[in-house]
Amino acid sequence: MFENAAAQPIDQIIAISRAYAADKRYDKVDLGIGVYKDSGGETPIMRAVKRAEERLVAEQRTKTYVGVGGDPRFVELMAQAVLPGRQMGQDFAGVQAVGGSGAVRLLAETALRLNPDARFWLPDPTWPNHGAILGAIGAGIERYPWPRFTAAIDIDAILASLDAASPGDCVIVHAGCHNPSGIDPDLAGLRALAEGLVARGLMPFVDAAYIGFGKGWEEDAARVAAIADIAPEMLLALSCSKNFSIYRERTGVALLVGRAGKGLNATMSLLLAIARASYSMPPDHGANVVRTILEDEALRREWLDELADTRDRINRNRAGLALALARARQDIDWTYIDKGYGMFALLDVTEESARRLREEVGVYIIPDGRMNVAAINLDHVDEIAARLVAAL
Ligand SMILES: Cc1ncc(COP(=O)(O)O)c(C=O)c1O
Repeated sequence: MFENAAAQPIDQIIAISRAYAADKRYDKVDLGIGVYKDSGGETPIMRAVKRAEERLVAEQRTKTYVGVGGDPRFVELMAQAVLPGRQMGQDFAGVQAVGGSGAVRLLAETALRLNPDARFWLPDPTWPNHGAILGAIGAGIERYPWPRFTAAIDIDAILASLDAASPGDCVIVHAGCHNPSGIDPDLAGLRALAEGLVARGLMPFVDAAYIGFGKGWEEDAARVAAIADIAPEMLLALSCSKNFSIYRERTGVALLVGRAGKGLNATMSLLLAIARASYSMPPDHGANVVRTILEDEALRREWLDELADTRDRINRNRAGLALALARARQDIDWTYIDKGYGMFALLDVTEESARRLREEVGVYIIPDGRMNVAAINLDHVDEIAARLVAAL
């Protein structure tokens, strides 16, 4: 059987990380994979996470299975941290998922089972794994436009392209800190987008992987709540990877936002059945850490403070890079980098220039031009900017 296999292309982001690890140059710069890095180039464990883990080691009494849906209290705490005032079982239902990626997969499978004709509309550009996950379940994929090198978002143009969608199609919307562009609509724009989706009978499928990395936990969560306030139903994938810095613990939530009595419970049973048939039960550790933090006032405050430090550094880096690029090359308007949010921004390069950047000057960015701005050390920002503009 194995000889029938054709080697699959490896994910671009994983390929770039491998190439970076193998590069021996001392002045190489990794702006590839999307993990936060501090000024020393580390991805630290948050103090609140360490404290929660110490507690778990001391107090955990069993390692028996968690249920198919994971820990319902974790699901409830995360959901209510994003959608305050809503009640589990009444206004939402959901399961613990294997990271935000697992949440996207479970929700997409659920939507496709409920509407086998549904097509999934992705922003162009988007996180490449959206296409990979949807492709893996045989879903039809369509694209709608998203800005790359300007902070101006034309919601009318987006909605005009969604005129080609059919009622019941799903529309992936990044909750904020768009990956890879960093360009988000303001709250009014987001509301207009949500209203446009509802008017067309389209299902918002909100991917929230960076809550807390934009303006603040509450401000970023309010973006998700704004869509939930407008749409009668919503699919919501939450990731705890970045905002709790627990990437490898694979922690997320797949949420159905709707109304009890309007199919919420039956859809939840389908979500559970899909989870059971996929991996049976999720891992416990990351969700247990997040629950411990969210339930404890002091730990929660400490975590939010650390998250604020992370966000501030990212925003300083965005501003610093925009200024350095402007010093290096005046004829381009770099303000879109400063006006964007989250870890990513796009550089207007061809795949070939991105390859030369990696191979010739040791700056690793993704072939579509995505840079992880969070990984920049501001002490070297002018030198990095000079290398980037030389590739344009
Ligand atoms: C847009 C988007 N969605 C979802 C995810 C999933 O994150 P994870 O599976 O690591 O929680 C990511 C991570 O890179 C992302 O950028």
